[in-house]
Amino acid sequence: MKALALKSFFAILILSFVFLATSLTPVEDSRQERITSAFHDYLDRHSIEMLDALHAFKEDVIAYSGIDSSALTTIRNKFRELRSTYKLIEPFSSYYFIASERNFNGPVVPEVEDEDDERPKIEWPHGLQQMEAYLWDDNPLGLKSKLLDEIALMDENLMALHIAFKTLPTDEARFIEAMQLQVIRIFMMGITGFDTPESGNAIGEATISLLAFLFFSNNTSLNEIDFLSLYKNHYITISKAFSDMRKNFVEKNHYPSSALRLEAQSVFQSDAFNRFFYNPRGTDPAFSAEASALGKALFFDPALSENNKRACASCHRPEKAFTDGMKTSSGFLEGEMLTRNAPTLINVALQRNYFYDMRADHLEGQIGHVLTNKNEMQSSFESAVKKLKASPQYVEWFRKAFKGKEDTVISKVSIENAISEYERTLVTLNSKFDRNIRGEEITFSDEERSGFNVFMNKGKCGTCHYLPLFNNVVPPQFTLSEFEIIGTTRTTNFEKPELDPDKGRGALFGTELFMHGFKTPTLRNIALTAPYMHNGAFETLEQVVEFYNRGGGAGLGLTVPNQTLPPDGLQLSPVEKKSLVAFLQTLTDTTNTSSKPSKLPSMKNALLDKRKIGGEY
Ligand code: HEC
Ligand code: HEC
Repeated sequence: MKALALKSFFAILILSFVFLATSLTPVEDSRQERITSAFHDYLDRHSIEMLDALHAFKEDVIAYSGIDSSALTTIRNKFRELRSTYKLIEPFSSYYFIASERNFNGPVVPEVEDEDDERPKIEWPHGLQQMEAYLWDDNPLGLKSKLLDEIALMDENLMALHIAFKTLPTDEARFIEAMQLQVIRIFMMGITGFDTPESGNAIGEATISLLAFLFFSNNTSLNEIDFLSLYKNHYITISKAFSDMRKNFVEKNHYPSSALRLEAQSVFQSDAFNRFFYNPRGTDPAFSAEASALGKALFFDPALSENNKRACASCHRPEKAFTDGMKTSSGFLEGEMLTRNAPTLINVALQRNYFYDMRADHLEGQIGHVLTNKNEMQSSFESAVKKLKASPQYVEWFRKAFKGKEDTVISKVSIENAISEYERTLVTLNSKFDRNIRGEEITFSDEERSGFNVFMNKGKCGTCHYLPLFNNVVPPQFTLSEFEIIGTTRTTNFEKPELDPDKGRGALFGTELFMHGFKTPTLRNIALTAPYMHNGAFETLEQVVEFYNRGGGAGLGLTVPNQTLPPDGLQLSPVEKKSLVAFLQTLTDTTNTSSKPSKLPSMKNALLDKRKIGGEY
């Protein structure tokens, strides 16, 4: 196994050097040809290698009778070899065929096929992670036929891939892009053991497809890795090398479908993400500084609500990173409460889905939910448009921002668009953590450094709160977002725990599998956004950490079907818990997000003109 890993590792290393070396020679016609053919050979050789490994594995599985316990060990080792061969083609199979990732190595979590469908189809993933779940089950013999089905499917898919590889355009630019994505995949996810929970070979696999080989060979276990140096000295160096190569050899982007800008030196650059990516219209040509300034006024203007007393800013207050500090937000009528906690809007643009149950899939679509909700703003777009039209200043601003005709520009669409443009300006990725990981300053205390290690390793936090956004948007494509079931309790009484009644995503689809599933929110600015969780049940980060330390709801003894958080608890020491909290406090950055408009436009109505900036409650 080790020999194979090393052999494979050197194969990729050599391939990279072939590219680097050829890159240095003067441009000549035959250079591209040589690259294309080296790349083709590589894909050909390694897909055959994986087919061979799959067949060897299959034979052992067929022969397995459960009698000889060493047979299982052999099979598991063959499986690890199979995974290693996959790691060599993964960068390219997932680059050329985005869907292949789900077929070869999809997480063992079902997905909804068509969300708009009344009876959504549930899709189960296939491939290595599914096989791993069978092989490490208590009764692998009972699952033998299921395992063989998975093997047959993979055989088919792999054969198709092998053939497809022969006809693909394999130039240098695509090679660089695929490797850039792979580097992110390894460092943001692979290293957390994300896709190999049982066979536990995260380091071996990282080594295979990684140039930071020397670093790893000096480190025998994840426990000895200092994650801050790993990212700072290794990931960023490699990532920068690829982005430099890109400057010379990638003329146009072949891989447009990611919020991540592959031009950026690393995912930790403050401009690494395209905040317009999740906008259904892409980088919005209508975007202008005028539109976001207008959106800002609207965000703070209580005239959007029925009683002119409630603005978006009532519940999303800039001084609290756009939360309201309440357990759950207060309703429209006095004394009424909503059932959920107001989330931060900082970096809100960098998400695929919105709300705790992920029911809205873009910012524009989210606004109607609130404006017309009888418990929130109790208004309608007709009434908001009517009020805004009475204000000469708003009319002028809308006209300038949307460059349309005076009588048509104030509309549902333009209101939604302006507010969303404002929200899209609230992106800021310059926390103490970012500055340290980029090496711009060395201000991390030893405690914060160890806290990051706990976050990435023992605490498993990074397996759901993915770097670098600390939310649920999956690297390296950043196109999908995930929800998780952790069994959040109703209170912090962990001695007599009760499961929170909110069914989250389960209620949305009526699907048993999703019950109590919530989106994994970002942890950026977490020091400013207490209380925590969808129900605001936890007042402090210490309580949150304690909850995870006990294995979430299921770990506390509650019945939480399908909990995706391992229930066995983390066994963190008091020092580890404290350092984890210290680390979470380094994720604060609210630069240029806190200003409020100094004045709202006049509505030519004495009563309305007394309305308060940001609302009254
Ligand atoms: C009454 C308090 C309240 C008001 C007023 C309010 N919100 Fe919210 N907002 C919330 C709560 C609570 C949630 C979480 C709801 C859920 O997940 O179901 C939320 C969620 C959001 C989200 C989703 C964030 C995410 O990460 O999923 C956005 C965006 C948002 N609000 C923007 C706005 C805008 C824009 C306005 C004004 C048009 C507004 N809100 C008015 C309380 C409020
Ligand atoms: C299995 C996936 C998973 C893992 C692992 C995980 N989280 Fe979470 N985290 C979530 C989900 C889902 C939520 C939202 C739950 C809810 O609202 O009920 C959440 C919420 C949080 C919140 C509250 C955020 C807010 O704005 O209210 C904090 C803080 C947090 N997690 C920290 C951590 C830490 C620290 C770790 C590691 C010890 C960790 N998480 C591990 C999925 C996960």
